[in-house]
Amino acid sequence: MSDRTFQDILKEKAEQITEIVREQLPKEEGKQRILFEAMNYSVLAGGKRVRPVLILETYRYLGGDPAREKDIVYPFLGAIEMIHSYSLVHDDLPAMDNDMYRRGKMTTHVAYGHAMGILAGDGLLNYAFETALRAKMLPGEQEKVLHALRVLADKSGAYGMVGGQTVDVIGTGKNFTGEELLFIYKLKTGALLEASMMIGAILAGADDETVSAMESVAADVGMAFQIQDDILDVTSTVAELGKAVLSDEKNKKTTYASLFGVEESSATVEQLTARALLKLSGYEDKSPDKGFLKDLLGYLVHRTK
Ligand code: IPE
Ligand code: IPE
Ligand code: MG
Ligand code: MG
Ligand code: MG
Repeated sequence: MSDRTFQDILKEKAEQITEIVREQLPKEEGKQRILFEAMNYSVLAGGKRVRPVLILETYRYLGGDPAREKDIVYPFLGAIEMIHSYSLVHDDLPAMDNDMYRRGKMTTHVAYGHAMGILAGDGLLNYAFETALRAKMLPGEQEKVLHALRVLADKSGAYGMVGGQTVDVIGTGKNFTGEELLFIYKLKTGALLEASMMIGAILAGADDETVSAMESVAADVGMAFQIQDDILDVTSTVAELGKAVLSDEKNKKTTYASLFGVEESSATVEQLTARALLKLSGYEDKSPDKGFLKDLLGYLVHRTK
């Protein structure tokens, strides 16, 4: 028995993912070298790698073939992290949240200028699909890879993350109701977490019912994740989070924490997580790291950064 804690294992997995993504990122050369530098800066600055870890661990939980991870799963690990990183680069722009710190460093537009902040985001979004489309499929795998690509595209776009960010920014300064906030959170944050668990399930060969169940688990986790993010915005520090705190107050945003208070928000985070874990328990854990995915969902919402 090893005495490695869950945190040690998570750290190791996140580091492995960083190396996988690093390999996939563009080389910093050519006339548009500055663009590649800005793209790579934002992805490699740090980050918890929650979404790629969720893809890989859902794949394993549902019994995905370990021998196929490199060819068909790895491209999606990079793709989702690139889309997530682009969403953060754009979220921090002066026209949006206007924040200066991210992942323990200056935000991309502060380090490289506003134009490069926009272009690095554009570059990453497209490069995500360039990367996912490099999946090496065996005969018979085309259908599931195509399905995973469709989920990635849908959940990232106007009906997913971008749609949520839209309602978030147009509502800045307005008083949202709880119901409106839940709509925003489901899209701006939930959608990419849903995509992650669904893609893991699809690539593992899960049936439609199981893929929908993973979407539903991730929807709860995503909601809890964003509520926890709102809580940390008012309770944490720049040093701990590696990004600005009190950003929501600065931007006059109604958040779950501002609407219901930290205590009630924390209770909601607990309830959503318990519900997600209950749904996940309906499926057998076939991962070699048994229990890891459940521990991960629990950790995400008790996280301090
Ligand atoms: C931050 O996401 C933005 C939200 C959707 C709340 P993460 O908390 O996963 O950020 P990184 O990837 O660790 O930097
Ligand atoms: C942004 O939510 C979610 C995204 C889709 C990027 P926030 O604006 O609360 O995220 P942070 O706090 O800046 O990471
Ligand atoms: Mg924002
Ligand atoms: Mg923000
Ligand atoms: Mg936030």
